[in-house]
Amino acid sequence: MTILITGGAGFIGSNFAENWLKNNKGNLINLDKLTYAGNLNNLLALKNNPSHIFIQGDICDTQLISGLLEKYKPDRVINFAAESHVDRSIHGPEEFIQTNIIGTFRLLEATKSYWLSMSKDKKEKFRFLHVSTDEVYGTLSKSDPAFSEENPYKPNSPYSASKASSDHLVRAYHHTYGMPVLTTNCSNNYGPYQFPEKLIPLIIHNALKLKSLPIYGDGLQIRDWLYVTDHCNAIEAVLKKGRVGEVYNIGGLNEMANIDIVNTLCNILDDLSPIHDQSSIKSYKDLITYVKDRPGHDRRYAIDATKIETELGWTPTETFESGIRKTVSWYLKNSQWVEEIVSGDYKNWTEKQYR
Ligand code: NAD
Ligand code: TYD
Repeated sequence: MTILITGGAGFIGSNFAENWLKNNKGNLINLDKLTYAGNLNNLLALKNNPSHIFIQGDICDTQLISGLLEKYKPDRVINFAAESHVDRSIHGPEEFIQTNIIGTFRLLEATKSYWLSMSKDKKEKFRFLHVSTDEVYGTLSKSDPAFSEENPYKPNSPYSASKASSDHLVRAYHHTYGMPVLTTNCSNNYGPYQFPEKLIPLIIHNALKLKSLPIYGDGLQIRDWLYVTDHCNAIEAVLKKGRVGEVYNIGGLNEMANIDIVNTLCNILDDLSPIHDQSSIKSYKDLITYVKDRPGHDRRYAIDATKIETELGWTPTETFESGIRKTVSWYLKNSQWVEEIVSGDYKNWTEKQYR
């Protein structure tokens, strides 16, 4: 089987590419624009793998996508490509509209023409899987039940609104044209190769530099956290066994307040990389700093993953305790990977966001 993925040089896409090629035969075509979030160093493990074919390009470029579909004739397409950081969407939503909405639309259009040209047998087996987020459902209070696939969409940030819009387009291409689509809505991921603008890698990076650890507002906002390989396995299960036209929520059954995440990270770092004696601070926790809240900050996300568990037999294999230790160890071992990122555009971003 040949698959084409978009956004495969980003955090989840690169983990997916590595995981897929470990478990499956056939070529994986990886199309990525290499924005600030895309990084070929995320794909070094696949450097000598002839089944991995990387192409730099934009999902908004219909001609390029049509050419790739024609040339490689993939049996599956998975769309990971997106602008993905909520804070950046607040400072500048334009790119989010462009990639997440227009890009998904152009990818759907090109894929539709390709799909319509297939033989009956291939056409029936073809799948287009769209990777989305739990943020499209909006925010929950403490006592609300977790998001199920039946929850209405109530996105609150330009990021989640753009993802919601792309989800609607994907749904419409199934209902109108019969395209065999699948959509997944997942909670917050963590693990290797996550760009250090997101909470967990940002805290690890700042702590190791003895810089302040910024907590937005009161730090009691709740997210559900899932180890990235568990997300990749869930996508694989949906791709192989999911019912056409269906939506599957993916979650880690692991709701935690932001301040508890940060305290956990400080405890692990105090253990694995203790602060040396000469420093004026004794624990990384001394670096915790409460800062201005994110505008429109969603209070709580939680996922009801009953559908994917009962229909497809998927459950997370990593506990938060094991996954977060693995993650911290990875960042400690891969300081060069982080250093190369933070020397570029990253500096301008952190100055703008945390000044
Ligand atoms: P990321 O920002 O790390 O990676 C996005 C990748 O897409 C980058 O490699 C970037 O270069 C590429 N890209 C951006 N615009 C492009 C374009 N126009 N054409 C081609 N490539 C382009 O994001 P991520 O965290 O890996 O997220 C991947 C997907 O999963 C996104 O669709 C996101 O909405 C979704 N998601 C993420 C999370 C999470 O916690 N990170 C949770 C649920 C869903
Ligand atoms: P983030 O990793 O940006 O993911 P998302 O906003 O998509 O959930 O943020 C996770 C949570 O951490 C979110 O509630 C915002 C909060 N946060 C901070 O408190 N400080 C920070 O510096 C960052 C980046 C996030």
